[in-house]
Amino acid sequence: MDYFAFLLAILHVYKALCEEIFWDTTVKLAENMTLECVYPSTDILTQMEWFKINLMEREAIAIFSPTHGVIIREPYADRVSFLNSTMAPNDITLSFHNASEADVGYYSCFLHTFPQGTWEKVIQVVPPDSFDIAVPSTSHVISEPGKNVTLLCQLQTKWPVQQVTWEKIQPHQIDLLTCCNLFQGRNYTSKYQRQILTTCTQGSRGSFIIIPNVTVSDSGFYRCCFQASTGENETFVVRLTVTDGKTNNQYILFMAGGTVLLLLFVILITTVIVISYNRRRRRQKRDLCKDFWDTQKKAPNNSRSPTSANPPTDDAREDIYVNYPAFSRRPKARV
Ligand SMILES: *[C@@H]1O[C@H](CO)[C@@H](O)[C@H](O)[C@H]1NC(C)=O
Ligand SMILES: *[C@@H]1O[C@H](CO)[C@@H](O)[C@H](O)[C@H]1NC(C)=O
Ligand SMILES: *[C@@H]1O[C@H](CO)[C@@H](O)[C@H](O)[C@H]1NC(C)=O
Ligand SMILES: *[C@@H]1O[C@H](CO)[C@@H](O)[C@H](O)[C@H]1NC(C)=O
Ligand SMILES: *[C@@H]1O[C@H](CO)[C@@H](O)[C@H](O)[C@H]1NC(C)=O
Ligand SMILES: *[C@@H]1O[C@H](CO)[C@@H](O)[C@H](O)[C@H]1NC(C)=O
Ligand SMILES: *[C@@H]1O[C@H](CO)[C@@H](O)[C@H](O)[C@H]1NC(C)=O
Repeated sequence: MDYFAFLLAILHVYKALCEEIFWDTTVKLAENMTLECVYPSTDILTQMEWFKINLMEREAIAIFSPTHGVIIREPYADRVSFLNSTMAPNDITLSFHNASEADVGYYSCFLHTFPQGTWEKVIQVVPPDSFDIAVPSTSHVISEPGKNVTLLCQLQTKWPVQQVTWEKIQPHQIDLLTCCNLFQGRNYTSKYQRQILTTCTQGSRGSFIIIPNVTVSDSGFYRCCFQASTGENETFVVRLTVTDGKTNNQYILFMAGGTVLLLLFVILITTVIVISYNRRRRRQKRDLCKDFWDTQKKAPNNSRSPTSANPPTDDAREDIYVNYPAFSRRPKARV
């Protein structure tokens, strides 16, 4: 019995450690920063709490109840506020003013709702120097508002996939959209505030997400990462541009021309930057998945390859679709 209890205790510690490692969003520390928390359901919110997750305990930051109002705890009283908008009653985003190094860490947005029960979103705040999103995108998808957009990425190598994740990358934050662990069957429920569809099937060499009914605000960079049990990993970045559907055709053509010119310019600049970056750091490729796997082991350099990203079901303007190579592939040949 004692042995069993001991095992149980170990399991609990292990679970607690794992849970602490797993988060939904990474935010770059800034003097003014916001920790987004939008509850997706229309359930009745009965109580909400914001915590900072410290090593031993949860430090209360604020508590809110629709009947009793908001209380912000003493050390945070002048430093945080809520963005209260009656338009979005499920938005309990917390804003920090004058945040400092001491605010680096994990935060929990914890809700009690009726009748669903509890819901939690964990946000990690990291110092600016460990927030690295500098990755060239490997394909570009262009769509219009209202369309269902499919983003694809295809594994180039042969190793067996253990885990696939998709993230949305923004200059100030990274949101985990999906996480599919094929061996452990971890069933991750996204805390991202809009619907993303995906599947999690064993043995697949590719992965996709469907963003239904896109809007201009869905534009941006989406990162897909394959991870093997041996520590190998491959990462792809897909850029999505959702154009304003209200513009007329002539304007769209003009925009398209402008976009291509802008892209060429961006490609030129990126090439120059990436080449000089690779020269300096050829041997220290960033571990793009380290956020999700606690592996310290160094693996040999992995070259990135372009994805075979298809345009979404609607490919009326496929001509603007750009699929340019990963620059890190053969830096020597380009110099
Ligand atoms: C933070 O917000 C305050 C008040 O709005 C502003 O004065 C300050 O310049 C902002 N700081 C940064 C770094 O944007
Ligand atoms: C937001 O404002 C509304 C009306 O002013 C109020 O009823 C609600 O409690 C506020 N919510 C928060 C989180 O402060
Ligand atoms: C910001 O915080 C620092 C200490 O972290 C403090 O010295 C400074 O007065 C604060 N500034 C404002 C505008 O609150
Ligand atoms: C988008 O997908 C939904 C189902 O998820 C479907 O009802 C709708 O017709 C699709 N819209 C387009 C433009 O394909
Ligand atoms: C997660 O579980 C839900 C129901 O519990 C199921 O509908 C969904 O397909 C599962 N997702 C994955 C990725 O296994
Ligand atoms: C798509 O999004 C628009 C704007 O957000 C909304 O008005 C429309 O009802 C949505 N359509 C569907 C089928 O969800
Ligand atoms: C991912 O691959 C890179 C080399 O491309 C390696 O340095 C890194 O350690 C790998 N990540 C993990 C979590 O093993």
